[in-house]
Amino acid sequence: MARVLITGGAGFIGSHAADALLDAGYEVRVLDNLHAQVHGNGRLRPPYLADGAELIVGDVTDPVAVERALRGVDKVLHLASAVGVGQSMYDIASYVRANELGTAVLLEALSKHPVAKLVVASSMSIYGEGLCRSADGRSVSPDERPVSQLRNGDWELRGPGGEVLEPIPTPETKQPTLSSIYALNKYAQERMCLITGKAYGISTLALRFFNVFGTRQALSNPYTGVLAIFAARLLNERPPLVFEDGRQRRDFVHVRDVARACLLALDSELAGEVFNIGSGQPRSILSIAQDLARVMGRARISAEITGKYRAGDIRHCFADIETSRARLGFAPQVSFEDGLDELAGYLADQIAEDRAEQATEELLRRGLVA
Ligand code: UD1
Repeated sequence: MARVLITGGAGFIGSHAADALLDAGYEVRVLDNLHAQVHGNGRLRPPYLADGAELIVGDVTDPVAVERALRGVDKVLHLASAVGVGQSMYDIASYVRANELGTAVLLEALSKHPVAKLVVASSMSIYGEGLCRSADGRSVSPDERPVSQLRNGDWELRGPGGEVLEPIPTPETKQPTLSSIYALNKYAQERMCLITGKAYGISTLALRFFNVFGTRQALSNPYTGVLAIFAARLLNERPPLVFEDGRQRRDFVHVRDVARACLLALDSELAGEVFNIGSGQPRSILSIAQDLARVMGRARISAEITGKYRAGDIRHCFADIETSRARLGFAPQVSFEDGLDELAGYLADQIAEDRAEQATEELLRRGLVA
């Protein structure tokens, strides 16, 4: 059976992808540096990583580790990445190194030993603000909100006449607007893989993940996704800290749906395309804070709306998944409610070190939260 290398395969999405690939009959090898921010200082093989997955501990920026990991591999799923939007705005060299240099090293190795398929994790972050509809019914790509507007606590996206723009699903055709170092890194990863894949005859696809949630997301990492950060707060009986007014909208897609999308992409005959992987449903950050508190039995803890904003954050973005449905056969199967119930069950016996306040302090100190 074909062997797949998953870079970053010991992480949240990677470990679920490993499960899906093993179930589908693939052999799975993982290259992962077991970064302390995600895996803790012990940097041990995570217990949730499937026994059947072979783990090579090494860094994607290390050509020797990458060459070794690629031996005998037929397909590659490239997930290794540093993923915090806020952190990327000050840890710039580390982010460029892990995300762009890491991808470059992988691609140089692949240029010498091409594989049949390469699938790279891109992100909805590359869109910047999602698509909107103006008052006269046209689709518009909003500009970033000016700092002067944010300073006034005026959070919504506005058209030229000051009218509020209504967010609509964002398709793959929207022009990227890169508003954080992380977004820039993800766009670079996506383009580098597509360009190199084409040049060396490696059938390559990029998946633009929206906000992925589910079990195994690192709870003690203050730069992880918002649901895991809120979970760590609630587990410690503290209120989730909500930026802006909490009405910013995102698209939460379950990690098993994302893992299935990875499998579909690895099995697909398509090449050179990009696909949105989301649920297609918008949810406000405040509503997900309330939903999570409820399913965790902590409905008495109300979210704290800070009225602060984080540099690099966008207001709204949710996916148009028609193209991935039609071309890739992708259809989300886990509802938000079921995914959240499952997460609550998992969280019940987890211990989380809540470092959200320190992380926000760090951003405040650097003027990246105001
Ligand atoms: C997230 C992922 C990114 C992924 C992208 C795809 C992380 C760290 N980021 O970025 O890797 O590519 O989704 O969609 O996993 N918020 C709060 N309080 C908090 C933390 C966040 O209110 O304590 C707000 C943010 O201001 C933002 C929203 O929640 O408005 C989402 O933040 P976050 O989970 O960091 O996601 P993205 O920036 O969308």
